Amino acid sequence: MEPTTFVLFGATGDLAKRKIYPALYNLFVRGKLPEAFSVVGLGRREWTDESFQANVEQSLERFSRTKPDDAGLLHRFLQAFRYSVLDIGREEDYRKLLDLVQRREDELGIPGNRLFYLSVGPEFFEPIAANIQSSGLGDVSGWKRLVIEKPFGHDLRSARHLNEKLSQSFEEDEIYRIDHYLGKPVVQRLESLQQGNPVIQALWTNRYIANVQITANETVGVEERAGYYDHTGALRDMFQNHMLQLLMMAAIHLPYDSSSEKVRFKKKRVMEALELVQKEDVSLSVVRGQYAEGTVDGKPVAAYTSEPGIAPDSTNDTFIAARLMIDNNDWRGVPFYIRTGKRLKEKSTRIVVEFKEPVKQSWSDGATPNLLVIEIGPNESITLQLNEKEPGPNGGFKPVHIDLQASPANSPEAYENLIGDALNGDSTFFAHWDEVELSWEWVQPVLDAFAENLVPLHRYEAGTFGPSESDALLAKDGYRWWFDK
Ligand code: BG6
Repeated sequence: MEPTTFVLFGATGDLAKRKIYPALYNLFVRGKLPEAFSVVGLGRREWTDESFQANVEQSLERFSRTKPDDAGLLHRFLQAFRYSVLDIGREEDYRKLLDLVQRREDELGIPGNRLFYLSVGPEFFEPIAANIQSSGLGDVSGWKRLVIEKPFGHDLRSARHLNEKLSQSFEEDEIYRIDHYLGKPVVQRLESLQQGNPVIQALWTNRYIANVQITANETVGVEERAGYYDHTGALRDMFQNHMLQLLMMAAIHLPYDSSSEKVRFKKKRVMEALELVQKEDVSLSVVRGQYAEGTVDGKPVAAYTSEPGIAPDSTNDTFIAARLMIDNNDWRGVPFYIRTGKRLKEKSTRIVVEFKEPVKQSWSDGATPNLLVIEIGPNESITLQLNEKEPGPNGGFKPVHIDLQASPANSPEAYENLIGDALNGDSTFFAHWDEVELSWEWVQPVLDAFAENLVPLHRYEAGTFGPSESDALLAKDGYRWWFDK
């Protein structure tokens, strides 16, 4: 692993505390960080190196999957951390930062490999990238990389604008756009599921598959993020990024040599084949919902419009269900149903691949379609559901399950996988610009239709599976959402 400086903008923030420090620590414990490794944290708060290190330690105690109970190890880890106060718009702070980065590079023998991680609000992506460039921080003798969090743009136009701006300071292959769903262990295993199983690979077409269902249900509401969420909604917050990335990962046929370039190329091909919906027709294939009051996990919860910070007349979407079609030889005729929402009955993220049913016969009573069930979270498993006939003359069919892969307990989290990949220069599980742009192209007419109120907003009771129109979307095609109990 190459010696590296990890420059973290937003070092005092929530994401750093919950995800980034624990990810770095677990990589360190597993021997997956470079020997010579320097972390420079940046924030507006007046922290010192010592108070920064103390904060990192606290975050590990609370959030790390491996507890930091080896004092020697912890001490070695924290030694890498330095802090510098930075006001994002102040040039002299970048000069100070450059001095610190160079001093640490000299001390540790790091040959100018710099990873800039922007764990900050999207409005800061552009100025930070520009200042990295103008301050000389981006003039490296080794490599430089930019890791950014979502959201990447607010719509198609702003996403294009942002990309253009970032590309003035970083090449596309230097930009790592995090979509933490791509770091989830089961999503990363979809690759080997196909590669290791010719049976599954052979079945992965419209000849055998009836439909694909991608669900990300959440029980939480808007939480403390009213300001962000009320002008974002489920479509931008989850659908444009995580859900469409899952669709790509489910729909690609992976070559045996699945290099990052090949995966990227295949994902782009899927997105190019996605049928765009005209603004006027959005209501035929998209369901928009918003939660009303109800009961979640046994507790009464308020309606979205009664949440603190939300306008009482807000028409923001907290639920989306959609039917998407991919117009290529592999998938023509197979609906991909996607849904995601807040304040639903259970937390579950899964992909269900429903296989076509043979013609119903009198002898096939009780048989259900074969399913490949990919549980992404909180349960992690891949199961094939088949039918077995019970012995005896009157026995009917019943479903049986073959567990293909269950994740080992305490396996690396999404951020650990992704930060490790970014340090190694492997961009396979990041969102590339083509995918992001094509995702916004699909989403834009839907945003427009919402803005012009061409799609009804269905209120659904909190603690359910969303508005009944979401069930009707599948029922029209003769299907139903699996596992809504
Ligand atoms: C984030 C969204 O990207 O993903 C949140 O901004 C959402 O609104 C979260 O709650 C869900 O992630 P996970 O990993 O809990 O499914």
